[in-house]
Amino acid sequence: MSFPTHRPRRLRRTEAIRSLVRETRLSAQSFAYPLFVCPGTKVKDEIASMPGNYRWSVDLLVNECLAARDLGIPAVILFGIPAKKDPLGSDACDPKGIVQRALRALKKSAPDLIVICDLCLCEYTSHGHCGVVKGTEIDNDATLKILAKAAVVQAEAGADMVAPSDMMDGRVGRIRAALDAKGFEQVPILAYSAKYASGFYGPFREAADSTPQFGDRRSHQMDPANQREALREIAFDIEEGADIVMVKPAMPNLDIIALARRQFRVPIAAYQVSGEFSLIEAAARKGWIDRERIMLESLTAIRRAGADIILTYFAKDAAKLLGS
Ligand code: PBG
Repeated sequence: MSFPTHRPRRLRRTEAIRSLVRETRLSAQSFAYPLFVCPGTKVKDEIASMPGNYRWSVDLLVNECLAARDLGIPAVILFGIPAKKDPLGSDACDPKGIVQRALRALKKSAPDLIVICDLCLCEYTSHGHCGVVKGTEIDNDATLKILAKAAVVQAEAGADMVAPSDMMDGRVGRIRAALDAKGFEQVPILAYSAKYASGFYGPFREAADSTPQFGDRRSHQMDPANQREALREIAFDIEEGADIVMVKPAMPNLDIIALARRQFRVPIAAYQVSGEFSLIEAAARKGWIDRERIMLESLTAIRRAGADIILTYFAKDAAKLLGS
């Protein structure tokens, strides 16, 4: 049976009906807000390619996090910009490192906010690579030791969750073992499992000053052409103990989010990354698109594909539009 019996427009006639039959509901409750923290006090340094996003010193970061929490955003994810970078990314393992200081301040002022810590070396290394460089290669197994140590240091400083984004093989298992050995068996791992070698990270690298000095990240991040491989990566991470898995970037990879949603039973996060944010923001500033509409449409699409958690630079603005 078809038209005229079926008239899909019947359910689109009024906003009340559309709302009644709406399949996907967006809420600030599923947002995590990415934030950059840097040394100093009273620093609020706008990131040129990500308007409305800043490098915050710890004192002002706390206020920004309280504002996010008051808008109903349950979680933030922190990225550190250390005072000094070196070849091994030492700041990541320093109890007084930038993210660890931010964690302690946040746990004091906003104990109920979920503070997730990005766990990768590229923000901390002088060469901008995600691991220990040997010659022109990134040494996987040497990097694992540092990542495991950094995870423990983050947990000691109060991290509610650690989020390895390095894409080294075997890191989830090593991080789980290191956390458990130090009594942090309750700290979950949110693994960046299907993380593609993407051009969409451009603005982030400006923000964190983490552009690799030579080469690129294609020897560890995934080839954007691959779909089955993403499911393999996710399966490995779950086997190794990941509590939540992530697909990143989000919009170019809605197919991966949808497949992962069907295939796995763990919560799925998706990261609407810097480049996704910036291209919406830039077109809106030119008056070419409706910013608010596209913000909500893009987030709804990510949710509809199957993401339980969305990391987004729009978290605060979207939360304001959605209400609580
Ligand atoms: C660290 C990391 C990156 C992002 C999140 N964690 C950069 C990269 O892999 O180059 C990108 C986030 C964004 O673009 O918003 N490895």
